[in-house]
Amino acid sequence: MEIHQITDKKMVPMNLLLLADPNQQIVENYLGDGYCYGAYQRGNLIGVYVLIKKSSGIAEIANIAVQPDRQNEGIGRKLIEHAIGEAKNLGFEHIEIGTGNSSIGQLALYQKCGFHMQTIIKDFFTDNYDEPIEENGITCRDMIRLSKQL
Ligand code: ACO
Ligand code: ACO
Repeated sequence: MEIHQITDKKMVPMNLLLLADPNQQIVENYLGDGYCYGAYQRGNLIGVYVLIKKSSGIAEIANIAVQPDRQNEGIGRKLIEHAIGEAKNLGFEHIEIGTGNSSIGQLALYQKCGFHMQTIIKDFFTDNYDEPIEENGITCRDMIRLSKQL
């Protein structure tokens, strides 16, 4: 598997990014000033992530997604490890990621990759998304923010 930056905006896989974040307007906003990376196998795009500058010294993985038929094979973990390396190379001191209270598997993966929970943005998803989101039988309401020192 190869991971490299997608510099041509026309090649950005919006369908995949919408798996991680169903609000296309929010996705387009952070794509505007973010770095988008793709994971490729035999020329096929199998995963994607977007790294942004959140604030001075702090990077954020704003979006990460793996093709549904390739999930749970370790690709997501490799993408996160790549993002951590890129953020370090770009001179950031911390990297953050945010996900929903209902995203049990994602919370497990991010903690396995060394992220620690920092804050909760209450009602983030119910305030910013038109359609209700439900996963694992849980309503997605709050955003859990996690951080890792680089
Ligand atoms: N309990 C414990 N561990 C779990 C659970 C669970 N319920 N669910 C998953 N895990 C662990 C697995 O055991 C595995 O850990 P391991 O590496 O120790 O074996 C890990 O989580 C999954 O790792 P990967 O196989 O590397 O993950 P994958 O390639 O499936 O990518 C991703 C993860 C990106 C979340 C993928 O499932 C996906 O695209 N989901 C849909 C989109 C999405 O939800 N994106 C994230 C939204 S948040 C954001 O974008 C910032
Ligand atoms: N992802 C999604 N849902 C999950 C997961 C998971 N990884 N693990 C469990 N669940 C859900 C199940 O699907 C089930 O939901 P459902 O009712 O919709 O089917 C629910 O969690 C489990 O419910 P019960 O079967 O009622 O729980 P149980 O009788 O096993 O009791 C308890 C839970 C008390 C935590 C028990 O497992 C236990 O004694 N664990 C060891 C001690 C412990 O950890 N106690 C809690 C410590 S915190 C405290 O004490 C305040």
